[in-house]
Amino acid sequence: MDEDRDREEAKGAKGAKGAKGANEANEAKEPAPAGMRQGLTSYGDTGFSLFLRKAFIKGAGFSDAALQRPVIGIAGTGSAYNPCHGNAPQLIAAVERGVMLAGGLPMVFPTISLHESFAAPTSMVLRNLMAMDTEEMIGAQPMDAVVLVGGCDKTVPAQLMGAASAGKPAIQLITGSMLTGSHRGERVGACTDCRRWWARLRAQDVGEAEIAQVNEQLVPSVGTCSVMGTASTMACIAEALGMTVPGGASPPAVSAERMRIAEATGAQAVAMAREPDRFRPAQILTAPAFENALRVLLAIGGSTNAVVHLAAIAGRCGFEFDLDAFDRLGRETPVLVDLKPSGAHYMEDFHAAGGMATLLRELKPLLHLDVLTVSGRTLGQELEAAGAGFAQSVVRPLANPIYPQGGIAVLRGNLAPGGAIVKVSAASPALLEHEGRAVVFEDAADLAARIDDPALDVNADDVLVLKRIGPKGAPGMPEAGALPIPLKLARAGVKDMVRISDGRMSGTAFGTVVLHVTPEAAVGGPLAHVQSGDRIRLSASRRELTLLVSPQELTARAAANPVQQPSAERGYRRLFLQSVLQADRGVDFDFLVPAGPKRRLPGR
Ligand code: FES
Repeated sequence: MDEDRDREEAKGAKGAKGAKGANEANEAKEPAPAGMRQGLTSYGDTGFSLFLRKAFIKGAGFSDAALQRPVIGIAGTGSAYNPCHGNAPQLIAAVERGVMLAGGLPMVFPTISLHESFAAPTSMVLRNLMAMDTEEMIGAQPMDAVVLVGGCDKTVPAQLMGAASAGKPAIQLITGSMLTGSHRGERVGACTDCRRWWARLRAQDVGEAEIAQVNEQLVPSVGTCSVMGTASTMACIAEALGMTVPGGASPPAVSAERMRIAEATGAQAVAMAREPDRFRPAQILTAPAFENALRVLLAIGGSTNAVVHLAAIAGRCGFEFDLDAFDRLGRETPVLVDLKPSGAHYMEDFHAAGGMATLLRELKPLLHLDVLTVSGRTLGQELEAAGAGFAQSVVRPLANPIYPQGGIAVLRGNLAPGGAIVKVSAASPALLEHEGRAVVFEDAADLAARIDDPALDVNADDVLVLKRIGPKGAPGMPEAGALPIPLKLARAGVKDMVRISDGRMSGTAFGTVVLHVTPEAAVGGPLAHVQSGDRIRLSASRRELTLLVSPQELTARAAANPVQQPSAERGYRRLFLQSVLQADRGVDFDFLVPAGPKRRLPGR
């Protein structure tokens, strides 16, 4: 903060007090304050606000020379409760180096940190709180651009939602995926193998001693889950949206390459700060960019959770997510990436195969190549710069896909008037066309109490239905949609059944699992009125989810058992239950979505 400029600004502020109207035309021409001068704390005296801020920043040891530089906020999400962000201190140091090398001033600040296994009842309840934290702290503190450091499932969505609403130039830095482990010569990694081994324990296929050994190997380093779960999916989506530096999605958390990406991210943030109007999120997060991201989600066999998160991020940008149009994209976008849970490999293999450049090269005919990225170049230019591909076996060519159609199908029918989804690439093909008897669990507690009861009336061709795990029901739409196979069937060798709920499932899970049934049971959706013994028809090929019960009968059931919507006495839980939207609107809060007409996404 320069002394003469400070005095001029203070004088200007005093003058403006007496002649606001007369000065408006002149003031409109002046550039908005930048660096440490922006967003002054309100004391009713601009000069004093600046004077006081300067005193405190000097107290922190900053020189005048440092304070002349563009200020780059670095949103840190390191926490002892978050092993997925365990490399955050090293990453932040590398970002700071990049910022300094490019002539900026790095300013690290904390936001809340969310880890899947350390947030009760589910991290999804807190995603919107993190988005609000991110948005408000970007807006409240002086910065010209912001680096968002995050990786675990809800973090990247929350940061992109917050940054989109804050409107300052923003760039995402992914923490990176963990390494894979080895159990008796077999490669294992979180969390697809966590589920697989737990299912083996339930089926009495392995004992307690061996499961303890596997437990030591499933998470062999810091970083995000090593398969194409939600974190890896959102990393790929962030790069596809143009919100990371090229190649930012896939380097492992503990690699030197990840640190170089961090340094490059810091440097690029300074370049963005110097051209703020070119690099605001609205310039990057455009309709064509979202369509590219949706293509990538489908082609990677990505997590179903990303459908909810993309709807939320797009909602912040003034788009309304069109599930049916997304389904049409799915019919023409093949699955190309052979990663668990849909395929065989892990994220470090994807990275060794060239990462997103390899995938985007294959997807080129389906992409909008003229979209701007945070690098200042278009996606097409970035692909040109990445050069030619090489022989590898993780990303298939467009002509020889793993699945000819995208990994996620959108279902409609009287059981899900607002839509539901099924990850066909992780399902049992034989169950994707299925009619069966419903075995209903009223909520998660009912499921826990009865699923393993030897007296439970259930057969392998029944349809397991779980109610009240939607946005308001649980609340927070927990990842309980992949119901466990009832113990007596698991021990008889049953590996998969059709399962239906208004909840989500982990991106690392697999099975014939129908999710996000909308409207949810807790707000009186038809799911609330399903009874054990009803018949349900699932047809992925016809995109159909039908409860074979007459409308008259459903109306009578609704009248006999009116739904009481959940509420809470106080605090964030009360805000959540009052304001949360359904899955098709991204489970965002109604008051965080901009008002006014919406543009449909993806376009028709
Ligand atoms: Fe953090 Fe899987 S628990 S990415």
